[in-house]
Amino acid sequence: MEQTFIMIKPDGVQRGLVGEIISRFEKKGFSLKGLKLMSVERPFAEKHYADLSSKPFFHGLVEYIISGPVVAMVWEGKNVVITGRKIIGATNPSDSAPGTIRGDLAIDIGRNVIHGSDSIESARKEIALWFPEGVAEWQSSLH
Ligand code: CMP
Repeated sequence: MEQTFIMIKPDGVQRGLVGEIISRFEKKGFSLKGLKLMSVERPFAEKHYADLSSKPFFHGLVEYIISGPVVAMVWEGKNVVITGRKIIGATNPSDSAPGTIRGDLAIDIGRNVIHGSDSIESARKEIALWFPEGVAEWQSSLH
């Protein structure tokens, strides 16, 4: 079954949006397979965002991600990568539709509350980076 990596960023944790965000994925019907509160160090954040290292906002992005604890999660379900991105909304909250997490809960691209893998390949890499110990193997009887 398809899995994706979802991270609630430091602003989402500090603003008390963890329950709201988890609820949206649960209500959609996806299964939570891994979850942990973590403070990441700079080299780890740089590795997660390595593809963006040439971007002018890279330094600020890394500072943002290391500024406080994040909630790292693995969600599973049919087409969860693309559907998860739809639940999250466009990267820039100015463009994200009402009803999406960023459309409802964020204003600034530099404080956009949440990250979700953008492809199955990125999901595989990000889950391996954030959950080297692996995630739950057990099956819910509902799925
Ligand atoms: P995310 O989905 O985590 O993927 C890359 C992140 O880079 C993105 O969300 C934003 O947090 C950040 N980002 C992308 N574009 C910009 C930008 N123009 N200015 C600041 N941050 C950006």
